[in-house]
Amino acid sequence: MIKHNKRLGVNIDHIATLRTNRKTDYPSLVQAVHIAEENGADLITIHLREDRRHIQDQDVIDIRAHASVLNLEMALTDEMINICNNIKPDYCCIVPEKRKELTTEGGLDLLNMSNNQFNFLVDSIDRIHQNGIIVSLFIDPEINQIKKCIESGAKCIELHTGSYANAKNSIEKNVELQRIKDAANFAASCNLQVHAGHGLNLSNLADICKISPIEELNIGHAIIADSIFKGFEKTIKDYRSAINND
Ligand code: PXP
Repeated sequence: MIKHNKRLGVNIDHIATLRTNRKTDYPSLVQAVHIAEENGADLITIHLREDRRHIQDQDVIDIRAHASVLNLEMALTDEMINICNNIKPDYCCIVPEKRKELTTEGGLDLLNMSNNQFNFLVDSIDRIHQNGIIVSLFIDPEINQIKKCIESGAKCIELHTGSYANAKNSIEKNVELQRIKDAANFAASCNLQVHAGHGLNLSNLADICKISPIEELNIGHAIIADSIFKGFEKTIKDYRSAINND
């Protein structure tokens, strides 16, 4: 597999959404893994939600068997930590999860966790690290959240780019972009590995790609949406070249 400057993580949750909603056995997630990898994806990302609205437990097993590099997104629960330690993805991204949300709406709020929750996080990161899995924490681009990540023992963060992607005008967009740059630079200066994702698409990707400490981008919704008209293979190729160009 080619080693890219910035890794493209293709989130295939919404291929599972089609299949799970319709209770069919297609489209095949394993086929999606192969097409994504053959056309420029560096890793496959899936979110096993507690409500199993798209990815199912068996998918995690099947995808682990086929993906060269797997990033498992999950909530911080005993059940998920056990699944993670059994499946052994390469990366585990811990995300906040609310049952009624449409998608992951914000980052983990480490600053407002109770002592018990924070201790549970520290202990869970340690248990996952012991299996050789890199833990990343999905957080908003805020320096104080990053400092708390370091305190938790995590070596990697994923910056939530949703506020940037949803900015209503160029002034708001530039403010959000600067927050991401500052957070990425600060995290890298503390030797954290930096990933980013949420709401990224071919129209808003270029500025994020210019932020050099960001090593990996995780993109789902826009890739699957673009694939409806362009096809999955062509879409992955387009995202790959958009990332390579910057
Ligand atoms: N990164 C994380 C941690 C996420 O939870 C999601 C959404 O599942 C993404 C990236 C991808 O977001 P989008 O589907 O908007 O590209």
